[in-house]
Amino acid sequence: MRGSFTYCNPTKLYFGKNALQKLAGELDKYGPNVQLIYGGGSIKKNGIYDEVVEVLKGCGKNVVEDGGVMPNPTVDKLREGVQIARDNDVDLLLAVGGGSCCDYAKAVSVSVKCDDDPWEKYYVRFEEPDCEIIPVGCVLTMVGTGSEMNGGAVITNHETKQKIGHVFGTGVMPKFTVLNPMYTLSLPHYQMVAGIYDIFNHICEQYFSGADDNVSDYLSEGLMRSLIHSSRIANKDPQDYEARSNIMWTATWALNTLLSRAKTTDWMVHMLGQAAGAYTDATHGMTLAAVSLPYYRYLVQSASGEDAGPGGEACIAKFARFAKEVWGVSAEDGNDGQISEVEAAFAGIDAMEAWMKELGLVMNLTELGASEGMVEGIADSTIILKGGYKVLTREEVVEILRQSL
Ligand code: NZQ
Ligand code: ZN
Repeated sequence: MRGSFTYCNPTKLYFGKNALQKLAGELDKYGPNVQLIYGGGSIKKNGIYDEVVEVLKGCGKNVVEDGGVMPNPTVDKLREGVQIARDNDVDLLLAVGGGSCCDYAKAVSVSVKCDDDPWEKYYVRFEEPDCEIIPVGCVLTMVGTGSEMNGGAVITNHETKQKIGHVFGTGVMPKFTVLNPMYTLSLPHYQMVAGIYDIFNHICEQYFSGADDNVSDYLSEGLMRSLIHSSRIANKDPQDYEARSNIMWTATWALNTLLSRAKTTDWMVHMLGQAAGAYTDATHGMTLAAVSLPYYRYLVQSASGEDAGPGGEACIAKFARFAKEVWGVSAEDGNDGQISEVEAAFAGIDAMEAWMKELGLVMNLTELGASEGMVEGIADSTIILKGGYKVLTREEVVEILRQSL
């Protein structure tokens, strides 16, 4: 490990079947007005809404309703939530739902006392908040994003066809999160596997960068192996508490700022997936599943070519390591006892593809509503980052998107 960094994660977690019992103790720390943020109604069907409201009332809180947060929350909804918070002089934003509700709560938290337009300030100019931040708490019901213990807040602007994430600092991270794996058991299979792939890709985005010997990569391999193991159990029996609880905890550690320490990190799968999401409004994890394999194969292919840049060798070595440590495919596993490092790298991606198909992920953008006619626009919306093994050109982005259709 060669880099220098600061590490601080202020989010307090309560994990387990009785975790909601800890909510009252947290609520006592804040003023009387609580904005209760939730999505399209799943928490009313599965009873979580009633449980949470009972605790809020028991603590004597004034509950200000803010439901209807859509998957991939929009800038229009954000402006509505800011108005609700201002009108009711809110002391705490309590998100009860998945990443969309948690992200939205964070975006509201930095906008209530801000005079600027939040989209322009945080998502176009990427400025940091310089106003009072309303505290956020979460009760998580959908696993995948890691939003419960990070500063990420992704907002979609349908008008400009952009879906942009701002990763805020420690002041915006949730003050506390309730993690009860039982709450995730009512998720439809589609959302469960989309979340599982989101977790896996968060780890990949941090793992596939750098050439140094970094403890983060060993942690990543352990988390990926655990996730693959638990995902297979949950895929067969979604009601398996032990598997679902492991998946929930893995999601948190996959993206709570630990793994990224001293890593440059890649995040190009997310940039491609988010741009596609801005055009299709598709489920986040599925957009990632659709673009991952063409992107990773393109990286290995380019790295093994004669004109591979300086990142080429490190890229092949890391994908071969991924094959061996995560999928058990090693460079010695060929029919003749010898396969090259490049072959091993591709074999690891093949093993990952087989697992993705086993889970039933949607693995192309066409099924998610994208078409050839959208490719140029999606490419224009794709932010090109520089931390991975290759800095893509716009033409390469177009090529990868075409292969993802
Ligand atoms: O809206 P309701 O009715 O609650 O239904 C939701 C929604 O339709 C449903 N759901 C949630 N919990 C449920 C449930 N249904 C039944 N039982 C339950 N227990 O699931 C659907 C998806 O929920 P959503 O919150 O949208 O999913 P997710 O957690 O995947 O969040 C997606 C958003 O997070 C962003 C994504 O871009 C997307 O906007 N991300 C946030 C990140 C971060 N903060 O760091 C990183 C991620 O990479 C991601 O970009
Ligand atoms: Zn993600």
